[in-house]
Amino acid sequence: MKFTFANPTLPSGGVVVAFALEGSKLTASAKALDAANGRAISRAVKVSRFEGKKGQHLTLLSPGNGALDRVVLIGLGMAKDVDTGRMQDAGGAAYAALGTVAERADVLVDAVTKRGLAAADAAAAFAYGMQLRSYRFDKYRTREKPEQKPTLRAARLCCEDAARARRLYKTEGQLADGVFLTRDLVSEPPNVLYPVEFARRARAELRKLGVKVTVMGESQLEKLGMGALLGVGQGSVRQSQVVIMEWNGAPRASAKPIAFIGKGVCFDTGGISIKPAAGMEDMKWDMGGAGVVTGLMKALAGRKAKVNVIGAIGLVENMPGGNAQRPSDIVTSMSGQTIEVLNTDAEGRLVLADVLHYVNDRFKPEFMVDLATLTGAIIISLGDQHAGLFSNNDELSERLHAAGNAVGEKVWRLPLAAEYDKMIDCDVADMKNIGGRGAGSITAAQFLQRFVGDTPWAHLDIAGVTWSKTDSPLVPKGGTGFGVRLLERLVADHYEGK
Ligand code: BES
Ligand code: MN
Ligand code: ZN
Repeated sequence: MKFTFANPTLPSGGVVVAFALEGSKLTASAKALDAANGRAISRAVKVSRFEGKKGQHLTLLSPGNGALDRVVLIGLGMAKDVDTGRMQDAGGAAYAALGTVAERADVLVDAVTKRGLAAADAAAAFAYGMQLRSYRFDKYRTREKPEQKPTLRAARLCCEDAARARRLYKTEGQLADGVFLTRDLVSEPPNVLYPVEFARRARAELRKLGVKVTVMGESQLEKLGMGALLGVGQGSVRQSQVVIMEWNGAPRASAKPIAFIGKGVCFDTGGISIKPAAGMEDMKWDMGGAGVVTGLMKALAGRKAKVNVIGAIGLVENMPGGNAQRPSDIVTSMSGQTIEVLNTDAEGRLVLADVLHYVNDRFKPEFMVDLATLTGAIIISLGDQHAGLFSNNDELSERLHAAGNAVGEKVWRLPLAAEYDKMIDCDVADMKNIGGRGAGSITAAQFLQRFVGDTPWAHLDIAGVTWSKTDSPLVPKGGTGFGVRLLERLVADHYEGK
């Protein structure tokens, strides 16, 4: 979508979005619109069940004297609760209401003073919400009829200090670009997006933004000794890859980097410990962690974040086959620690073990955050409401928790402890890649912790939040991009030396 920003005006035609607060109170410009259109809006509110609550909206067709085509009145709830998140959700709701029925719309945004939210900030947030909701992955639909396609192309946000709104939206638009890249990567089918192709796209998307992208193929990974990662990929005819993305935006070039690491299993059949057929198609998005890291790098580089960041992704395909690894194989990780692979479907931790060690060893980062669709067990624990958070560092955990709440990508911390760590001890190697029956997400995290040394580290298990089967205000069903906005916020709030 294209967004333009203008100082307040009262449209005399077309499609208009206006706002009401709880108790059916029209905002100032909604009132003016009402007055200019024979009080059609207030009359419609009166005869409907619309009360201005958050999540409510009311559509009027050709109201009053018929000058306007359509008015969408959006409820914002109580004035004291209206913040940027509320305005983003309102933008998402407006997109849902107009996406397939209008080509463009004017949005009349006022300051909602009780919360100190300026109209310009509210307008930019609204546009951001519209943009996030407008995402669609339709490149493989060749027979869609025009009337099945979205129509909404442009919105004009009318508010005081339009210049400020335009400036704010410029940054938010760059974040949305990052989220969209993640959603694209997660949505692509695995015959198209295999490790080499993923690496190619990461390079193509990021180099032009000034990110240094290094792609390592199997011979180099062998030289580095990444036996855990390579073992996962060895049953596939697709080459495994590790991609390192470096953004150097800190004022001091030598400043310690922060690091994000992603699980990129482009397809997870389970390997020889093969998964049941039903639902296996979901494993095309088992590269969601790598997708988030790549989209995050795009967002941070796009807005020229003042920080040094490493993004690292381990890309493999987990397949059965004549050369696949077997349950009971023992692999040697880059760290030197040996692992008995008792279940080839517990492969994400094997991939991350080598990438975490590599990043820690080579870049000595200030902290590492990894993201992975790591365990089905986290879906049992937390559903799709929270990602699982595991960490060896309380400060990092609290910052992630706060950033998640701020952007509506919530995380919930689960414990790590020596008793759980013991569960992956092994008689024939340094560790095994599965624990017992219980605490599956925790033992997976304990496994990762064995590869991070003393570096502050957090692990986000995003298996429950990477793909959505239903629409929500900012996320149409499909790949969510969960994690990009969360980590961008973490960086903005704490690591840009402001
Ligand atoms: N990629 C899966 C986890 C997963 C499951 C992600 C469902 C998204 C939706 C992971 O590689 C896996 O297979 N984990 C196993 C671990 C088990 C073998 C210890 C699991 O969760 O069953
Ligand atoms: Mn698996
Ligand atoms: Zn997996």
